[in-house]
Amino acid sequence: MHDAVRATVGLFHVSKSYAAGHFALRDVCLEFQRGEFALLSGPSGAGKTTLLKLIFAAERASEGQILVLGRNASRLGAAAIPSLRRRIGVVFQDFKLMPRRTVEENVALALEVVGTPRREVRARVFAILKQLGLQDRRFHHPLSLSGGEQQRVAIARALVNEPEILLADEPTGNLDEELSLEIMDLIAAAAKRGTTVIVATHDSAILERYGGRHVRLEHGRVVSEHSTPAGREGE
Ligand SMILES: Nc1ncnc2c1ncn2[C@@H]1O[C@H](COP(=O)(O)OP(=O)(O)OP(=O)(O)O)[C@@H](O)[C@H]1O
Ligand SMILES: [Mg+2]
Repeated sequence: MHDAVRATVGLFHVSKSYAAGHFALRDVCLEFQRGEFALLSGPSGAGKTTLLKLIFAAERASEGQILVLGRNASRLGAAAIPSLRRRIGVVFQDFKLMPRRTVEENVALALEVVGTPRREVRARVFAILKQLGLQDRRFHHPLSLSGGEQQRVAIARALVNEPEILLADEPTGNLDEELSLEIMDLIAAAAKRGTTVIVATHDSAILERYGGRHVRLEHGRVVSEHSTPAGREGE
């Protein structure tokens, strides 16, 4: 009947309960298409992080089906999870940079863990750091960088694999407005290159500025959804 086959991410009547009787997500039905840029909003506790974690197979749905790149993420065995995650870039608050490794090493690790040949690692890391304006920082350690620079490194690490899906959870959390928009422009650019991008945020400046699809969650349910054709990003 519909786009389930083309969708890179599909949630079908998904509920998630961490503790009996309390639902973090309840009967959520959503599909995200290739190259889509979607913002997920809603108050604290609405279920935004939970939804991203389910897509990344970091949590399991209690009910319903989650299709991610053709795989059923809610049923995947432990052995199949790494090959799915390889195709997903994440910028999560609790996936911190490693303080004892340089910027370059932090980004390279994302490729090394999936067995990328060394020469290709070097070329790809160089390219992404240049693209994100971090080439001068490549030998620095994360703690000697500004918050915005650290966040750009996290995005470089998420994008260096050229993932089909990018999940970002409050990627502009502690940044000022100007830097937040800069970071969001980098994230939105990934969607223009065909990556399916889903960003959880409660930053109203971002919600006002960026077009595309806005999905609002409250108490674990989708309460509103709308799309605006053109964002004002990049102005
Ligand atoms: N690991 C966990 N164990 C138990 N309950 C959890 C866990 N993670 C989240 N929850 C609960 O699930 C609900 C949704 O949480 P979630 O973190 O998804 O919300 P959120 O929209 O990301 O909120 P915030 O804007 O504060 O990040 C909340 O009631 C939360 O307390
Ligand atoms: Mg959250």
